[in-house]
Amino acid sequence: MLESLSSKVHDEERQGEAYRPATTESGKFRKKFYIESYGCQMNFSDSEIVASILQESGYGATRNYTEADLVLLNTCSIREKAEVTVRNRLQLFRQIKEDRPGMLIGVLGCMAERLKGKFLEEEQLVDMVVGPDAYRTLPGLIVEAGGGQKAVNVLLSREETYADISPVRLDGNGVTAFVSIMRGCNNMCSFCVVPFTRGRERSRDAVSIVRECEDLFRRGFKEVTLLGQNVDSYYWPDEANDRVVDFAHLLEMVARIDPSLRIRFSTSHPKDITDEVLYTMARYDNICRYIHLPVQSGSTRILQLMNRTYTREWYMARIDRILSILPDCGLSTDIISGFCTEAEEDHLDTLGLMEYARYDMSYMFFYSERPGTLAARRYQDDVPEAVKKRRLEEIVRLQNRLSLEKNKQDVGRIYTVLIEGDSKKSAGDWRGRNSQNKMVVFPKNGSDLQKGDYVEVKIVDCTGATLIGRLAE
Ligand code: 5AD
Ligand code: SF4
Repeated sequence: MLESLSSKVHDEERQGEAYRPATTESGKFRKKFYIESYGCQMNFSDSEIVASILQESGYGATRNYTEADLVLLNTCSIREKAEVTVRNRLQLFRQIKEDRPGMLIGVLGCMAERLKGKFLEEEQLVDMVVGPDAYRTLPGLIVEAGGGQKAVNVLLSREETYADISPVRLDGNGVTAFVSIMRGCNNMCSFCVVPFTRGRERSRDAVSIVRECEDLFRRGFKEVTLLGQNVDSYYWPDEANDRVVDFAHLLEMVARIDPSLRIRFSTSHPKDITDEVLYTMARYDNICRYIHLPVQSGSTRILQLMNRTYTREWYMARIDRILSILPDCGLSTDIISGFCTEAEEDHLDTLGLMEYARYDMSYMFFYSERPGTLAARRYQDDVPEAVKKRRLEEIVRLQNRLSLEKNKQDVGRIYTVLIEGDSKKSAGDWRGRNSQNKMVVFPKNGSDLQKGDYVEVKIVDCTGATLIGRLAE
């Protein structure tokens, strides 16, 4: 599949994933809800907040939509394909609803925000449309919709961060968790729908973030990923202590919880990532050596049209800076091929910049015009689809080569790996990640390790996507 490759931003394996309830939950609730999530980590994280709000009002989760009283789709609008997937999915629920007329169907997230009441006109079976800042009102909306009234709340907020809501953990690995630190985005990249679907940027109370991370650690979690559309512009006035907490401070506060709690973060904007963040990473071993730094294009002209506010050279200088302060730092990026007016030489600039940065991994997309964005209003989507796809293919091919080369360099090295669970292919192997975020698979060999353990692994082989190792002596 070309539109996007496996990604942590948009983890293709997780698209449409259903909420998995803990076994202890069954029987505790009056009614059942089923939720599927699409899009970025932020959306998956929001589904955990929604699960928490619903549990409070008597709804327990089920993975089986045929027995659900309430079916929710937490949707994404970032590319047209994401929206098409959801529309197709709704077709299935149409049939199920015919058999179970009492079942309510709600559309949450970015598509709800983008389409608002129009969704109800276009998709008759939908009972509720709820935007990303309106989840607290879900219980009331369910009552309204249950009474036969279609319910919509797509109000965006300047304050909502759901800081006080303790999310119900969706992905049951029990080792790694996502913690939302801010919402919305003020950047206005011209291709991007996010500022319209998720509203103005706001940072969550740092005290509540640290408390959530401490709580996760107490419950056995070993890794937290701090999430935001643009984490480097985190800014929280700590009035009690008469100071401002920026992202570097926040990282430090979380890193100090315990040296055995790993910290990751996503996503960084090249214009905002400060040296102070890099120095803080260098000071704490438990802040992982990995930065996801979306470049989008390697051409200064295109970057300008994208309103990214940096040049090719400026981006390269940031890469140099990262590697001078953190020489073993893993790097990944997001790239869009075929943005408006992109010429062959712009595309070659992108390939050249990829070679320069030598990314370990990239999330690669072709440009998909989104209604209402700056680019849709200002520029013509004039690169033919076949050209977009051919360029994307070249980008993917180059990234595959770079990933394999980078992984080969790791053969012979020893890494500390946090075990996340069984390898997907074999229960005889463990799967985990090193600090650089690379997936490492190695045989269990009868050892009495368990998930959540840190272990030293020597890398003996690799593919482009995985390091293959064995327990170091
Ligand atoms: N078309 C294609 N890709 C897009 N992205 C955001 N908007 C679009 C679009 N209109 C990509 C960017 C962003 C990632 C999350 O999705 O690369 O960083
Ligand atoms: Fe996430 Fe953006 Fe998709 Fe919304 S539109 S789910 S913010 S990627």
